[in-house]
Amino acid sequence: MEDLSKEELYTVSYKTESLETCIRQRHSVREYLPKEVDQTIIEDCLRLAQLAPSNSNIQNWRLLIASGAGRERIVKALMKEATTGDAPNIPPLPEKYRHFRSELGRELYGAGGYGIPRSDKEARDKAVLRNYEFFGAPVIAIIAQDPALANIDSLSSGMWLQTFILALTEQGLGTCVEVSVAGYPEVLKREFGTDLDILCGLAIGWPSDSKLNRLHTGRGKIEDNVKWVKE
Ligand SMILES: Cc1cc2nc3c(=O)[nH]c(=O)nc-3n(C[C@H](O)[C@H](O)[C@H](O)COP(=O)(O)O)c2cc1C
Repeated sequence: MEDLSKEELYTVSYKTESLETCIRQRHSVREYLPKEVDQTIIEDCLRLAQLAPSNSNIQNWRLLIASGAGRERIVKALMKEATTGDAPNIPPLPEKYRHFRSELGRELYGAGGYGIPRSDKEARDKAVLRNYEFFGAPVIAIIAQDPALANIDSLSSGMWLQTFILALTEQGLGTCVEVSVAGYPEVLKREFGTDLDILCGLAIGWPSDSKLNRLHTGRGKIEDNVKWVKE
């Protein structure tokens, strides 16, 4: 395949939403319509995301993406592992960050989300399992990385991923980034046919008009994230 031409890269072909609208509208979508996504829409978004910056312009993002029968096979293998195999190998959060996850859990499983009481462990476990079927998204993907690369290069993959996600948002598509599926790297490597390191999964599809998809998470104050040094 030939490199993208400068014309393809830099000609603005459509403009339907402002950047601000896309950023504000993007949120994690955890219920999808059983409706196909035209591959050309995803290809347009990939062309846009290709403009992401990277260390020495190595463009190290790698996306393995599946739909149709490929998607069914991969989800089946993941669900088998998640229901009958070992617990997923997900790096634990350091103690000082755990309260964020508890807050998210309260929102996600509470009245504004799934609406499952804490006491109903069976229903909660079932909801967690939905991660491994990519919440019913018709297009599923993993973001992977050459094991020879370093942390700084994951940053480039992250910058690419957000660009890709915002482009998908502009097209009205929903997404959910998923560390959960990366908890079964061997299954993903086998089913996607890759030796690359797995960073995370990505669900892509048309959002359903459900209460769960209207869940908007909060954010802390800017000062928790930014230190401005002026003298
Ligand atoms: C690296 C990463 C991993 C994530 N993993 C999961 C996951 O496994 N399951 C899930 O439901 N959401 C996952 N999320 C979504 C986050 O929970 C979500 O981005 C966060 O709560 C903020 O909500 P918002 O995306 O709706 O703005 C992940 C997001 C990121 C960036």
